[in-house]
Amino acid sequence: MFRQPLHDRGVIARYRAHLPVSATTPVVSLNEGSTPLIHSSRLSAKVGRGCEVYIKYEGLNPTGSFKDRGMTMAISKAAEAGKKAVICASTGNTSAAAAAYATRAGMECVVLLPAGKISAGKLAQAFVYGSKVVAIDGNFDDALNLVREIGARDEFEVVNSINPFRIEGQKTAAFEIIDELGDAPDIHILPVGNAGNITAYWKGYVEYHNLACSTKRPHMAGFQAAGSAPIFYGRVVTAPDTVATAIRIGNPASWDQAKAAIHDSAGSIDIVTDHEILEAQAWLAANEGIFVEPASAASVAGLLKALENRENAVPGPLQNMAPESTLVLTVTGHGLKDIDTPLKHRSFAPLTAAATTEAVLRTLGY
Ligand code: F0G
Repeated sequence: MFRQPLHDRGVIARYRAHLPVSATTPVVSLNEGSTPLIHSSRLSAKVGRGCEVYIKYEGLNPTGSFKDRGMTMAISKAAEAGKKAVICASTGNTSAAAAAYATRAGMECVVLLPAGKISAGKLAQAFVYGSKVVAIDGNFDDALNLVREIGARDEFEVVNSINPFRIEGQKTAAFEIIDELGDAPDIHILPVGNAGNITAYWKGYVEYHNLACSTKRPHMAGFQAAGSAPIFYGRVVTAPDTVATAIRIGNPASWDQAKAAIHDSAGSIDIVTDHEILEAQAWLAANEGIFVEPASAASVAGLLKALENRENAVPGPLQNMAPESTLVLTVTGHGLKDIDTPLKHRSFAPLTAAATTEAVLRTLGY
């Protein structure tokens, strides 16, 4: 039986041949990646016509989001370059991953966050992993502009997805999907914020296809939150707003790359409202047992929207789905990252009972 050594797991170990690392790159890993690809019988039934839908559950990465894939690469390469400190702007997940991996590498981590717009779980992560947290009086786009300026100094390595090693690490999710399905899916659906992930997936799919590891490349279907949808509207959104704070971004860094991915894959970009996002989050948890944060639910919301309104769907792969298509939806972050949002938007009052068996059974109606 082949066993990968315990000290050599994670996406760099698994996909070393496809990543810009050498034998001397110090690998900083938390065994990220190899996340479950979960078949959804209910979504498959909703799509119908023999189509199969799978959920790539990225919330099961070590810090609870897909960002760990890119961060193992960014921090390993920063360590290789002898950097002592890293910096990033974040809506909360990049900063959690940066903080954890930087700590592991013995580096200082500085995170710039939009004040008041980070979920408590993510903020807690930045603190407990030991980073220096600066809350700025501005949004993510303002924070990223500051990071670009401060990161130009020699002391810092920028670990936002403008760092190409982040994209390299994140493309491994596409490899995993092909390795597991035996081929690329026909359609890949994912939420879009700063647009690094759609860029990374497409890079991964193209590379594996070029190596004949798949027979096809998927159509990339991205979804933005309606109040933060610069790519969909084709203009910078100066005051982005959405309940899905992770994708509350008005001027994505990888805008051009995302457009290229959508164009080259004959894909699409569409929007989902906050209401649709929250409904999809609740539906996925209550029907498939998968609890994701609001931004992640944008992919499920997008599919449900396209199914409900096929005639008016944006032109693209979800409008004209071939029978027996395979669909993969990435859900990017764990639901426990942000418990305040679902608790605020729905009332979850427990039943109450005296502390006796009889009283509990009576309350339950038995
Ligand atoms: N889903 C989640 C949970 C995210 O945290 C992000 C981005 C996205 C989707 C969108 O991915 O930016 O590659 O298009 N979060 C970044 C952050 C911006 O700072 O954590 P993208």
